[in-house]
Amino acid sequence: MKITQTYEGTIARELVSAQEIARTIERLAGAIAADHRRIPLTLVGVLKGALYVATDLARAIAAVPDGPSEITLDYICVSSYGNATRSSGEVRLLKDASEPVRGRNVVIIEDIIDNGLTLAYLRALLGERNPAGLRACVLFDKPYHRLVDVTVDYVGLEVPDAFVVGYGLDYQELFRNLPYLAQLRPEVFTDG
Ligand code: IMP
Repeated sequence: MKITQTYEGTIARELVSAQEIARTIERLAGAIAADHRRIPLTLVGVLKGALYVATDLARAIAAVPDGPSEITLDYICVSSYGNATRSSGEVRLLKDASEPVRGRNVVIIEDIIDNGLTLAYLRALLGERNPAGLRACVLFDKPYHRLVDVTVDYVGLEVPDAFVVGYGLDYQELFRNLPYLAQLRPEVFTDG
């Protein structure tokens, strides 16, 4: 089935509302700000999925009183899923961060964690560059199929064991701009 950027009838149900996402971002921002009081903070968002969560978090952290002394926002782009709904297990670096992280307090911002390979890869990659601190934040957690034991310091919301879209997450590059998280009807998947 060919799907188009028409939401009517293609989305099974809303799983997490825009309001709940906003509340979760506020909570994560409070925790990250509390751990980085009066010190510089570098956020590294993982493209493309974390494009919204990273920018929204950066603004929310800046609004926390007595938080980091400065906030820089960088992006790194990796590919792990291709166009299928199951991970290929292979992580490829498509675009590196543009600023050095040496001596910086870094928080990696991921949209969702599933098998954990993407975050494990990024922790190893950035960890080799001698940051002063390296933590990870994921907005959505699917804890059902971890292949590696990887530390997540800030966890947003656990979501069901399903392929989800919206708020940055895509299916074949569609649905990223949905303001909420949704689950597609199974018959929407083509996977091939
Ligand atoms: P992991 O390497 O399996 O932990 O997967 C992490 C990456 O896979 C995320 O950054 C997403 O890009 C993608 N991903 C995992 N689950 C989903 C999903 O349900 N919908 C869309 N993308 C997903």
